[in-house]
Amino acid sequence: MPFITFDEKITVHIKEIDDHHQTLVRLINELYDAVVEGKGEETVSVVLPELINYTMYHFFAEEDYMVKYEYPKYHDHKMEHAKLIDQTLELYERYNEGVKISNAVLDFLKDWLNGHIMGLDIELGHFLQERKVA
Ligand SMILES: [Fe+2]
Ligand SMILES: [Fe+2]
Repeated sequence: MPFITFDEKITVHIKEIDDHHQTLVRLINELYDAVVEGKGEETVSVVLPELINYTMYHFFAEEDYMVKYEYPKYHDHKMEHAKLIDQTLELYERYNEGVKISNAVLDFLKDWLNGHIMGLDIELGHFLQERKVA
């Protein structure tokens, strides 16, 4: 059983954004599988930098949509992205200091999916759909 399933609840209905979120879900599930197998900490060293890079790329893509279509909640959404990046970098810093963090990373990522994607990203999706973005 995967830790997170990509389903309707986190579908934004904008292809590029959904593709990105699917990649993020895959990375999170990879980490979860490693934790279950007792290899969480080694896997964090590979998955977390990948996740940070991909997340930045993904956030820029969403922000591009917001700018292009003059999204009224651009500022709030962008601020939340910045906060998520900060939190991810903080976790990575702790990892580099030798703290065992794979469980904290999983909790953080699950909150992110529940909070950010199901909230702000879905809202952005509705806005873009109204503007006929596919
Ligand atoms: Fe977002
Ligand atoms: Fe997103």
